[in-house]
Amino acid sequence: MDLLKVIKERKSIRAFKPDPIPKGKIEEILRLTIHAPSAINLQPWEFIIVTGEEKERLGRRLIKAYKEKQISCSPGNVKPLPKTYGKRGAKTLELMKPFFEEMGVNIDQYINEGSCNFYGAPVAILICLDDSFPKARMVDVGIALGYLVLAAHEFGLWTCPNGLIIAYEDEIKDLLNIPENKNVVIGVALGYPDSNIPINRFKSQRDDLEKFIRWIE
Ligand SMILES: Cc1cc2nc3c(=O)[nH]c(=O)nc-3n(C[C@H](O)[C@H](O)[C@H](O)COP(=O)(O)O)c2cc1C
Repeated sequence: MDLLKVIKERKSIRAFKPDPIPKGKIEEILRLTIHAPSAINLQPWEFIIVTGEEKERLGRRLIKAYKEKQISCSPGNVKPLPKTYGKRGAKTLELMKPFFEEMGVNIDQYINEGSCNFYGAPVAILICLDDSFPKARMVDVGIALGYLVLAAHEFGLWTCPNGLIIAYEDEIKDLLNIPENKNVVIGVALGYPDSNIPINRFKSQRDDLEKFIRWIE
């Protein structure tokens, strides 16, 4: 597939088939992912790939933690978001609404519990960063995430980045024996989409380019 097609076609999927992904395919995706640039070529990312019964256990543990603590999307905001951003989020949820209505589910519950269970995907990837790195290295992890979702798409697999679970980082680290000095920065669900589930027909929109740019000439 050509890059333009991959970029335009990729989207987040919120209902996966349980079909397992061959280990070799996951490795091929990650081999492409690590072509991502990083500051001084430090390649600071670490990937933890959770599959099979371990992935199911992780999902169950995170759903339990969510039910107890009820921390949902966008944890860690220190200030209220400026209106522009709040509006974009609200618009996205509004546009998702008809799909969830068709499914007869509660939108908050579906997204929160779905994120905790990686929307039923057979593979959960966690990208970690050693805590000796400064915050700036999050940029490198973000770039790797971008590469990962595009590389997966090239291989006919779909993804959903998963930030909600970071609110339960302690639970993740405890269950998967992740050392204290590693931060779990972001999760990614990876798998084949269940095309019978209405929310997978949803495609998010973007504001016009003019809203984001300022030329200085
Ligand atoms: C850092 C990051 C964290 C995200 N966390 C979640 C999440 O916890 N749950 C979820 O359903 N989607 C999550 N997403 C997916 C976004 O909602 C999605 O990328 C956005 O709505 C744009 O849609 P698209 O990916 O289909 O283009 C996350 C995306 C990013 C980049």
